[in-house]
Amino acid sequence: MKLGTERNVSDVIVLRSVSKVYAIGAQPVEALKRIDLTIKSNQNIAVIGKSGAGKSTLLHIIGTLDRPSQGKVWLNGTEISTLSDYATSLFRNTTLGFVFQMKNLFNEFSALENVMLPGLIAGLSKNIVRDRAAKVLASVGLTHREKHRPGELSGGEQQRVTIARALLMAPPILLADEPTGNLDKHTSLAIQNLLLGLCEEYKTTMLLVTHDLDLASRLPQRIVMEDGMIIDRGDL
Ligand SMILES: Nc1ncnc2c1ncn2[C@@H]1O[C@H](COP(=O)(O)OP(=O)(O)OP(=O)(O)O)[C@@H](O)[C@H]1O
Ligand SMILES: [Mg+2]
Repeated sequence: MKLGTERNVSDVIVLRSVSKVYAIGAQPVEALKRIDLTIKSNQNIAVIGKSGAGKSTLLHIIGTLDRPSQGKVWLNGTEISTLSDYATSLFRNTTLGFVFQMKNLFNEFSALENVMLPGLIAGLSKNIVRDRAAKVLASVGLTHREKHRPGELSGGEQQRVTIARALLMAPPILLADEPTGNLDKHTSLAIQNLLLGLCEEYKTTMLLVTHDLDLASRLPQRIVMEDGMIIDRGDL
């Protein structure tokens, strides 16, 4: 177990003594307890553990969607608490890709337009973004569904659109929270293969939360969480 305080340029994700307390009502919940974690580039890691262990909380904090109560987080060398809200959202758009629960696509937009969004937010030209989005949609096998709206797609297809959108900006970090949770076995396997293949292609560092131990065993590394702590981190 390596827990040095030094940071290295190849360290893509670094957490130092990160705690998260949800203070709701009389009983605060300590969802994360002084987590230390260092993840290098191009590592694919499964995060497993019982319900309530703190897995999603960990991903939200790494994803800049929530702030730690204590401790610091560096992503690609940037200590994220030093960024303004605006800088954080720009940083999130270019550095992080999210594959969370389904139903987070915009139904008023087509599949292609949904995939284009991060590029448009980043201020890239519409033509370049459209070309890039079409390419990423092709890589998830959905060229024939470009014009469909999310409500006109199957669950597995929606999840593939979500993956395409997460990868549009080729972010160095991909965070996936039970990406195959609601899918049948065949579709789940197809999405797994897609995610693992794309991470390899884009040299992405992926943290993937799953209850599916078969899926977890397909990733080169695993961390196990329990009660807000990492109780097993393999050779990380
Ligand atoms: N917004 C919140 N407010 C208050 N408590 C929360 C909040 N989000 C999570 N918690 C609590 O923090 C703990 C960790 O929750 P978290 O969602 O991280 O677990 P998890 O490991 O992702 O579980 P699951 O496998 O069920 O998704 C739980 O006890 C949960 O009840
Ligand atoms: Mg969760």
